[in-house]
Amino acid sequence: MAKPVYVLNGPNLNMLGLREPSIYGAETLAGVQRRTEARAELLGLEVDFRQSNVEGELVTWIQQAREAASGIILNAGAYTHTSLALLDALNAAELPAIEVHLSNVFRRESFRHHSFISLGARGVICGFGPKVYELALEAMAEILGQQPATRA
Ligand code: DQA
Repeated sequence: MAKPVYVLNGPNLNMLGLREPSIYGAETLAGVQRRTEARAELLGLEVDFRQSNVEGELVTWIQQAREAASGIILNAGAYTHTSLALLDALNAAELPAIEVHLSNVFRRESFRHHSFISLGARGVICGFGPKVYELALEAMAEILGQQPATRA
């Protein structure tokens, strides 16, 4: 059985749907999870989708990923712009990692233009709303050499 791709979400992403819909859209995190899992199935990938508001919990999950996951897709929320600990964890995991953001962080406040996560990521996808998770899975499937699942 192939290892899952960890899809990790940081602080305030549990508030999707309610939180600043003009920036983040109307879809809830449960909706994002459903579309991510559906896309993963088409790509022949397993996903383990999680959210935490706690930086240390995200660090622990990334540490666990080293053994338990095949890759990491990470929306670290505001920790993107502050967390050296998440960068260290990603580098220690030695797995392909893709950074995602729902919003186009480069069209926003200048403090969102810098990401610590990017130094540990193969690539960054931002600005396309919930679709960024699906695009990251497409890229991850290619990195992992996964064939799309054939429909029955
Ligand atoms: C975010 C962008 C971050 O700057 C912000 O702090 C978030 C969400 C995004 O998905 O657009 O919480 O990561």
